[in-house]
Amino acid sequence: MKGIIVAGGTGSRLHPMTAAASKQLLPVYDKPLIYYPLSTLMLSGIRDILIVVDPGDKQAFERLLGDGTQWGISLSYATQAQPNGIAEALVIGKDFYAGSKVALILGDNIFFGHRMSAVLDEASRQEAGATIFGYWVPNPDQFGIVELAPDGKPLHIEEKPAMPRSHYAVTGLYFYDEHVTAIAERLSPSARGELEITDVNRQYLEAGNLSFVRLERGFAWLDAGTNEALLDAANYIATIERRQGLKIACVEEIAWRQGWIDDGGLQRLAALMPECSYRQYLNETLKQ
Ligand code: G1P
Repeated sequence: MKGIIVAGGTGSRLHPMTAAASKQLLPVYDKPLIYYPLSTLMLSGIRDILIVVDPGDKQAFERLLGDGTQWGISLSYATQAQPNGIAEALVIGKDFYAGSKVALILGDNIFFGHRMSAVLDEASRQEAGATIFGYWVPNPDQFGIVELAPDGKPLHIEEKPAMPRSHYAVTGLYFYDEHVTAIAERLSPSARGELEITDVNRQYLEAGNLSFVRLERGFAWLDAGTNEALLDAANYIATIERRQGLKIACVEEIAWRQGWIDDGGLQRLAALMPECSYRQYLNETLKQ
């Protein structure tokens, strides 16, 4: 299975930082925002990842993340010139994942919670169809919203409904089978001028091929689309990390625990860092 991170092309509601126009390059507490979706894909066992970025930020992403070999993965980059919507990434990346299943994640989405690896593992094993993840939100008019039947199966899916039929938002993580290319290529732009990921999911729903996984209470799904959300995310991560002494979305640690790099590899990554708590954490992780 391959993975795509959508890290540009969808417009921004943040101040355009001169050095880092893409918010995914900004820190959330102690690491760049992009580390969080990257770690979600890595925890799904995905090692071949395409990052779709704004043309002006490609170099900055490459400088930050490189080709992934330092983490035992493969990272490549593609550009999305205009904010034409999330689903366009499936068209831009079609040669990258041709003929294989693909997981798509939004570059500003943070997933954290108990049994996350097991939830991801199950979704990535699904042979056919698509899997989406739902999360209860107080403001359903701001998201893709799914209505569920009493047995928990999805009945209806709608983008930012004026009259929401439920409180279950569709989060920015999607698993698709190889048929998704044909679906994405046939999409027409919505009223807001975007190729909507909700339209892709609706086609799987109508074909009876959409699985829905509820992320339960206690699970954290955060995004960092606004200044407030970015600050909330940083405070949340800081609170948990400082309380537990364990890092969230430490991609170096995940690569090592997955067995994709060995002790020497982790040691070298730590040695490349300036003296900071992140470097100390990697060295302590090795000792345990
Ligand atoms: C996008 C999707 C929406 C989804 C949301 C999750 O919204 O279109 O279905 O619920 O991401 O963050 P957008 O960020 O484009 O407003």
